[in-house]
Amino acid sequence: MRIVLVGPPGAGKGTQATRLAETLHIPHISTGDLFRANISRQTELGKLAKSYMDAGNLVPDEVTIAMAKDRMEQPDAEGGFLLDGFPRNVSQAGALDELLENEDMKLDAVLDLEAPEDEVVKRIAGRRVCRNNSAHVFHVTYTPPKKEGVCDVCGGELYQRDDDSEETVRKRLEVYHTQTEPIIDYYKAQGLVVTISATGPVDEVTGRALEALKRDK
Ligand code: AP5
Ligand code: ZN
Repeated sequence: MRIVLVGPPGAGKGTQATRLAETLHIPHISTGDLFRANISRQTELGKLAKSYMDAGNLVPDEVTIAMAKDRMEQPDAEGGFLLDGFPRNVSQAGALDELLENEDMKLDAVLDLEAPEDEVVKRIAGRRVCRNNSAHVFHVTYTPPKKEGVCDVCGGELYQRDDDSEETVRKRLEVYHTQTEPIIDYYKAQGLVVTISATGPVDEVTGRALEALKRDK
């Protein structure tokens, strides 16, 4: 299956993507995680991305599309993938369509995670991420690690993302509404969108997502 996950910052895209990818046996491709891995390796791409991410803005399309394309061309993504955080504007969606068309492939579904703004703000405020792997995500009250400040998965140190400050979160939400939400209509026109509520316990949201994807097939 080839799936795009869309939803506001803090909706739980990363949390759900990890679980859905495991169940559906497809790789989880997160452009945010790819940028963060570049930042921790201090690559040129990481340095460039950080300046945009810390301000809550989108990283320029050219580098983002090239990075996503490169990841989608890895052998493990041949049979399908779950895209998290890409595409993030209509121009990236067009680039993805072109990329898939060239390979004679198409998307199966766009899963839209809906969550109210006050809830996503609470989720982001309490989020803690692993230094070793930004896909290891916890929340201080909703999904706390067994030991405070320590990742359950790998024992790494948990920290608060630089772009999770109140001011940057406000900017990220604005960017989501103005630049990312329009891709929902773009994909609705292709009949690909399935919308689910992302509120309630993590397991329930995963169940809802799997059910919606099954119904859509
Ligand atoms: P990215 O990393 O993609 O961030 P985002 O879209 O803002 O989303 P988040 O990671 O904040 O939230 P999430 O929905 O994954 O929620 P999570 O599962 O962590 O992008 C960051 C930046 O990179 C962008 O601002 C941009 O600069 C750049 N970038 C990335 N992709 C780009 C692109 N394509 N083009 C240009 N620039 C790009 O959950 C949040 C918290 O809630 C966690 O603590 C979690 O434990 C908790 N939680 C999750 N589910 C539940 C639940 N059901 N109940 C209670 N708590 C829950
Ligand atoms: Zn970890």
